[in-house]
Amino acid sequence: MELQSFRRLAHSRFGIVLPDNAESFLQSRLRTLMDRTGHRDLEALLQAAEAESNGDLFIDIVEQLSTNHSYFYREPAHFEFLSSVALPEITERLRRQRSRDLRIWSAAAAAGEEAYSIAMAMRTFYGAHYQDMDAGVLATDIAKRSLQRGAEGVYRSETFRHIPQAWRDSFLEPAGEDSLRVIRAVRDDVMFRWLNLVGSMSALRGGFHVIFCRNVMIYFDAPTRERLVQSLTHLLAPGGYLFIGHTDDAEFARKYLDQQRPAIFRKRAGS
Ligand SMILES: C[S@@+](CC[C@H](N)C(=O)[O-])C[C@H]1O[C@@H](n2cnc3c(N)ncnc32)[C@H](O)[C@@H]1O
Repeated sequence: MELQSFRRLAHSRFGIVLPDNAESFLQSRLRTLMDRTGHRDLEALLQAAEAESNGDLFIDIVEQLSTNHSYFYREPAHFEFLSSVALPEITERLRRQRSRDLRIWSAAAAAGEEAYSIAMAMRTFYGAHYQDMDAGVLATDIAKRSLQRGAEGVYRSETFRHIPQAWRDSFLEPAGEDSLRVIRAVRDDVMFRWLNLVGSMSALRGGFHVIFCRNVMIYFDAPTRERLVQSLTHLLAPGGYLFIGHTDDAEFARKYLDQQRPAIFRKRAGS
Protein backbone atom coordinates (compact mmCIF):
# COMPACT_ATOMS: atom_id res chain seq x y z
CA MET A 1 0.00 0.00 0.00
CA GLU A 2 1.26 3.46 -0.86
CA LEU A 3 1.71 5.91 1.97
CA GLN A 4 -1.01 8.13 0.48
CA SER A 5 -3.52 5.24 0.37
CA PHE A 6 -2.69 4.38 3.97
CA ARG A 7 -3.20 8.00 4.93
CA ARG A 8 -6.61 8.09 3.26
CA LEU A 9 -7.64 4.78 4.84
CA ALA A 10 -6.52 5.77 8.37
CA HIS A 11 -8.63 8.89 8.00
CA SER A 12 -11.74 7.37 6.44
CA ARG A 13 -11.91 4.31 8.71
CA PHE A 14 -10.61 5.65 12.02
CA GLY A 15 -10.75 9.44 11.67
CA ILE A 16 -7.02 9.73 12.31
CA VAL A 17 -5.34 12.63 10.56
CA LEU A 18 -1.64 11.97 9.96
CA PRO A 19 0.80 14.90 10.10
CA ASP A 20 2.36 16.36 6.95
CA ASN A 21 5.64 14.60 7.66
CA ALA A 22 3.72 11.29 7.76
CA GLU A 23 6.62 9.14 6.66
CA SER A 24 9.03 10.05 9.45
CA PHE A 25 6.16 10.09 11.99
CA LEU A 26 5.14 6.57 10.93
CA GLN A 27 8.74 5.36 10.90
CA SER A 28 9.24 6.38 14.52
CA ARG A 29 5.80 5.32 15.76
CA LEU A 30 5.87 1.94 14.02
CA ARG A 31 9.46 0.91 14.83
CA THR A 32 8.50 -1.41 17.70
CA LEU A 33 5.65 -2.95 15.71
CA MET A 34 8.00 -3.58 12.74
CA ASP A 35 10.50 -5.22 15.09
CA ARG A 36 7.74 -7.42 16.49
CA THR A 37 6.24 -8.42 13.16
CA GLY A 38 9.61 -8.75 11.41
CA HIS A 39 8.90 -6.30 8.57
CA ARG A 40 12.08 -4.64 7.39
CA ASP A 41 10.60 -1.24 6.54
CA LEU A 42 7.44 0.82 6.40
CA GLU A 43 6.62 -0.17 2.84
CA ALA A 44 6.79 -3.89 3.67
CA LEU A 45 4.57 -3.37 6.72
CA LEU A 46 1.93 -1.42 4.79
CA GLN A 47 1.99 -4.00 2.02
CA ALA A 48 1.44 -6.83 4.51
CA ALA A 49 -1.44 -4.88 6.04
CA GLU A 50 -3.05 -4.51 2.62
CA ALA A 51 -2.65 -8.21 1.79
CA GLU A 52 -4.18 -9.39 5.05
CA SER A 53 -7.86 -10.24 4.80
CA ASN A 54 -8.92 -9.86 8.45
CA GLY A 55 -7.49 -6.33 8.85
CA ASP A 56 -5.80 -7.10 12.22
CA LEU A 57 -2.42 -5.74 11.17
CA PHE A 58 -4.05 -2.55 9.92
CA ILE A 59 -5.65 -2.09 13.35
CA ASP A 60 -2.29 -2.86 15.02
CA ILE A 61 -0.78 -0.05 12.97
CA VAL A 62 -3.57 2.40 13.76
CA GLU A 63 -3.22 1.57 17.47
CA GLN A 64 0.33 2.88 17.41
CA LEU A 65 -0.69 6.19 15.89
CA SER A 66 -2.69 7.62 18.76
CA THR A 67 -1.38 7.70 22.29
CA ASN A 68 -2.99 5.30 24.75
CA HIS A 69 -1.69 7.21 27.74
CA SER A 70 -4.20 7.62 30.55
CA TYR A 71 -4.30 7.46 34.34
CA PHE A 72 -6.77 7.06 37.19
CA TYR A 73 -8.78 10.10 38.38
CA ARG A 74 -7.63 12.21 35.43
CA GLU A 75 -9.23 15.68 35.63
CA PRO A 76 -10.55 15.35 39.23
CA ALA A 77 -13.22 18.06 38.73
CA HIS A 78 -15.04 15.64 36.42
CA PHE A 79 -15.27 12.94 39.07
CA GLU A 80 -16.30 15.49 41.69
CA PHE A 81 -19.08 16.73 39.39
CA LEU A 82 -20.12 13.15 38.67
CA SER A 83 -20.52 12.42 42.39
CA SER A 84 -21.96 15.73 43.55
CA VAL A 85 -24.27 16.68 40.64
CA ALA A 86 -24.74 14.05 37.93
CA LEU A 87 -25.25 10.90 40.03
CA PRO A 88 -27.66 12.49 42.56
CA GLU A 89 -29.73 13.93 39.70
CA ILE A 90 -29.74 10.73 37.63
CA THR A 91 -30.54 8.60 40.68
CA GLU A 92 -33.54 10.78 41.49
CA ARG A 93 -34.78 10.48 37.89
CA LEU A 94 -34.32 6.70 37.93
CA ARG A 95 -36.22 6.52 41.21
CA ARG A 96 -39.16 8.38 39.65
CA GLN A 97 -39.03 6.06 36.65
CA ARG A 98 -38.84 3.04 38.97
CA SER A 99 -35.70 1.95 37.13
CA ARG A 100 -32.39 0.62 38.49
CA ASP A 101 -30.62 0.65 35.15
CA LEU A 102 -27.74 3.17 35.32
CA ARG A 103 -25.95 3.32 31.97
CA ILE A 104 -22.43 4.77 31.70
CA TRP A 105 -19.99 4.63 28.77
CA SER A 106 -16.28 5.41 28.69
CA ALA A 107 -15.66 5.92 24.95
CA ALA A 108 -11.97 5.72 23.90
CA ALA A 109 -11.21 4.15 27.27
CA ALA A 110 -7.57 3.19 26.58
CA ALA A 111 -6.70 0.53 29.21
CA GLY A 112 -9.70 1.28 31.43
CA GLU A 113 -8.17 3.82 33.83
CA GLU A 114 -11.11 6.18 33.26
CA ALA A 115 -13.79 3.46 33.31
CA TYR A 116 -12.51 2.06 36.62
CA SER A 117 -12.33 5.57 38.09
CA ILE A 118 -16.01 6.01 37.19
CA ALA A 119 -16.87 2.63 38.74
CA MET A 120 -15.02 3.59 41.94
CA ALA A 121 -16.86 6.95 42.05
CA MET A 122 -20.20 5.11 41.64
CA ARG A 123 -19.43 2.59 44.36
CA THR A 124 -18.35 5.38 46.71
CA PHE A 125 -21.48 7.42 45.95
CA TYR A 126 -23.97 4.58 46.47
CA GLY A 127 -22.17 2.82 49.32
CA ALA A 128 -24.25 -0.09 50.60
CA HIS A 129 -27.06 0.83 48.15
CA TYR A 130 -24.84 0.01 45.19
CA GLN A 131 -26.29 -3.52 45.24
CA ASP A 132 -29.75 -2.03 44.60
CA MET A 133 -28.59 -0.58 41.28
CA ASP A 134 -28.09 -2.33 38.00
CA ALA A 135 -24.98 -0.29 37.27
CA GLY A 136 -21.91 -0.83 35.13
CA VAL A 137 -19.53 0.92 32.79
CA LEU A 138 -19.06 0.08 29.14
CA ALA A 139 -15.42 0.72 28.13
CA THR A 140 -14.62 0.83 24.40
CA ASP A 141 -11.55 1.54 22.31
CA ILE A 142 -9.92 0.43 19.05
CA ALA A 143 -6.66 -0.58 20.78
CA LYS A 144 -7.03 -4.31 21.38
CA ARG A 145 -3.97 -4.64 23.56
CA SER A 146 -5.17 -1.79 25.79
CA LEU A 147 -8.61 -3.40 26.14
CA GLN A 148 -6.97 -6.65 27.15
CA ARG A 149 -4.80 -4.87 29.73
CA GLY A 150 -7.91 -3.16 31.04
CA ALA A 151 -9.73 -6.44 31.54
CA GLU A 152 -6.73 -7.73 33.54
CA GLY A 153 -6.88 -4.61 35.73
CA VAL A 154 -3.19 -4.47 36.72
CA TYR A 155 -1.34 -1.15 36.50
CA ARG A 156 1.92 0.45 37.64
CA SER A 157 1.44 2.12 41.04
CA GLU A 158 2.12 5.59 39.61
CA THR A 159 -1.02 5.30 37.42
CA PHE A 160 -3.00 5.62 40.67
CA ARG A 161 -1.10 8.51 42.21
CA HIS A 162 -4.02 11.00 41.94
CA ILE A 163 -6.83 8.87 43.37
CA PRO A 164 -8.35 9.58 46.80
CA GLN A 165 -6.78 7.58 49.64
CA ALA A 166 -10.13 5.98 50.49
CA TRP A 167 -10.36 4.53 46.97
CA ARG A 168 -6.83 3.19 47.25
CA ASP A 169 -7.75 1.46 50.52
CA SER A 170 -11.04 0.04 49.25
CA PHE A 171 -10.51 -0.82 45.60
CA LEU A 172 -6.87 -1.84 45.04
CA GLU A 173 -4.75 -4.82 45.99
CA PRO A 174 -1.02 -5.54 45.58
CA ALA A 175 -0.03 -7.28 42.34
CA GLY A 176 3.72 -7.77 42.38
CA GLU A 177 6.52 -5.27 42.43
CA ASP A 178 5.38 -1.69 41.96
CA SER A 179 2.01 -2.78 40.56
CA LEU A 180 -1.53 -2.79 41.87
CA ARG A 181 -4.65 -4.60 40.74
CA VAL A 182 -8.20 -3.29 40.75
CA ILE A 183 -10.20 -5.64 42.98
CA ARG A 184 -12.47 -8.23 41.42
CA ALA A 185 -15.77 -6.53 42.30
CA VAL A 186 -14.74 -3.33 40.50
CA ARG A 187 -13.28 -5.28 37.56
CA ASP A 188 -16.67 -6.93 37.20
CA ASP A 189 -18.32 -3.49 36.97
CA VAL A 190 -16.58 -2.72 33.69
CA MET A 191 -17.24 -4.39 30.35
CA PHE A 192 -14.50 -3.95 27.72
CA ARG A 193 -15.49 -4.00 24.04
CA TRP A 194 -13.83 -3.04 20.74
CA LEU A 195 -15.57 -0.07 19.12
CA ASN A 196 -14.50 2.40 16.46
CA LEU A 197 -15.96 5.84 17.21
CA VAL A 198 -15.75 6.70 13.53
CA GLY A 199 -17.60 3.56 12.44
CA SER A 200 -21.13 2.34 13.00
CA MET A 201 -22.56 2.70 16.50
CA SER A 202 -25.56 0.53 15.75
CA ALA A 203 -24.35 -2.12 18.23
CA LEU A 204 -25.03 0.33 21.09
CA ARG A 205 -28.44 0.43 22.70
CA GLY A 206 -28.11 4.12 23.66
CA GLY A 207 -29.93 5.73 26.56
CA PHE A 208 -26.63 6.45 28.35
CA HIS A 209 -26.95 8.62 31.44
CA VAL A 210 -23.25 9.54 31.28
CA ILE A 211 -20.70 9.39 28.47
CA PHE A 212 -17.01 10.16 28.98
CA CYS A 213 -15.32 10.80 25.62
CA ARG A 214 -12.10 12.48 26.62
CA ASN A 215 -8.82 13.14 24.86
CA VAL A 216 -9.64 11.34 21.62
CA MET A 217 -11.20 14.08 19.49
CA ILE A 218 -7.77 15.69 19.16
CA TYR A 219 -6.97 13.03 16.55
CA PHE A 220 -9.99 13.88 14.39
CA ASP A 221 -10.68 16.69 11.95
CA ALA A 222 -13.67 19.02 12.38
CA PRO A 223 -16.24 17.11 10.26
CA THR A 224 -15.36 13.85 12.09
CA ARG A 225 -15.64 15.61 15.48
CA GLU A 226 -19.03 17.03 14.57
CA ARG A 227 -20.38 13.64 13.42
CA LEU A 228 -19.07 12.05 16.63
CA VAL A 229 -20.69 14.65 18.89
CA GLN A 230 -23.98 14.20 16.99
CA SER A 231 -23.82 10.43 17.53
CA LEU A 232 -22.95 10.82 21.22
CA THR A 233 -25.82 13.28 21.68
CA HIS A 234 -28.18 10.80 20.06
CA LEU A 235 -26.92 8.00 22.35
CA LEU A 236 -27.41 10.07 25.54
CA ALA A 237 -30.61 9.75 27.54
CA PRO A 238 -32.52 13.04 27.97
CA GLY A 239 -30.79 14.92 30.81
CA GLY A 240 -27.65 12.79 30.31
CA TYR A 241 -24.12 14.18 30.61
CA LEU A 242 -21.21 14.25 28.18
CA PHE A 243 -17.69 14.77 29.56
CA ILE A 244 -14.96 15.71 27.08
CA GLY A 245 -11.26 16.43 27.70
CA HIS A 246 -10.26 19.92 28.87
CA THR A 247 -8.06 20.33 25.81
CA ASP A 248 -10.64 18.89 23.40
CA ASP A 249 -12.33 21.34 21.06
CA ALA A 250 -15.74 22.08 22.62
CA GLU A 251 -17.29 23.80 19.59
CA PHE A 252 -19.63 20.96 18.60
CA ALA A 253 -20.49 19.90 22.15
CA ARG A 254 -21.63 23.50 22.68
CA LYS A 255 -23.63 23.40 19.46
CA TYR A 256 -25.67 20.30 20.36
CA LEU A 257 -25.71 20.29 24.18
CA ASP A 258 -25.93 22.68 27.14
CA GLN A 259 -22.63 23.48 28.81
CA GLN A 260 -22.61 22.95 32.60
CA ARG A 261 -18.93 23.34 33.51
CA PRO A 262 -15.67 23.40 31.55
CA ALA A 263 -15.76 20.26 29.36
CA ILE A 264 -19.10 19.04 30.85
CA PHE A 265 -22.31 19.15 28.79
CA ARG A 266 -25.91 18.06 29.31
CA LYS A 267 -28.59 16.93 26.91
CA ARG A 268 -31.82 18.83 27.48
CA ALA A 269 -34.29 16.78 29.48
CA GLY A 270 -37.01 17.17 26.86
CA SER A 271 -34.85 16.39 23.82
C1 LIG B 1 -5.24 9.49 25.10
S1 LIG B 1 -6.27 8.09 25.11
C2 LIG B 1 -7.65 8.68 26.08
C3 LIG B 1 -7.96 7.78 27.25
C4 LIG B 1 -8.97 8.35 28.24
N1 LIG B 1 -10.23 8.65 27.62
C5 LIG B 1 -8.41 9.56 28.94
O1 LIG B 1 -8.88 10.68 28.69
O2 LIG B 1 -7.47 9.40 29.72
C6 LIG B 1 -6.92 8.10 23.45
C7 LIG B 1 -7.58 6.79 23.05
O3 LIG B 1 -8.37 6.98 21.88
C8 LIG B 1 -8.36 5.76 21.17
N2 LIG B 1 -8.84 6.00 19.79
C9 LIG B 1 -8.23 6.64 18.77
N3 LIG B 1 -9.00 6.62 17.66
C10 LIG B 1 -10.14 5.96 17.99
C11 LIG B 1 -11.32 5.60 17.28
N4 LIG B 1 -11.48 5.91 15.98
N5 LIG B 1 -12.28 4.92 17.95
C12 LIG B 1 -12.12 4.59 19.25
N6 LIG B 1 -11.03 4.89 19.98
C13 LIG B 1 -10.05 5.56 19.35
C14 LIG B 1 -6.91 5.34 21.25
O4 LIG B 1 -6.74 3.96 20.97
C15 LIG B 1 -6.57 5.71 22.71
O5 LIG B 1 -6.74 4.61 23.58
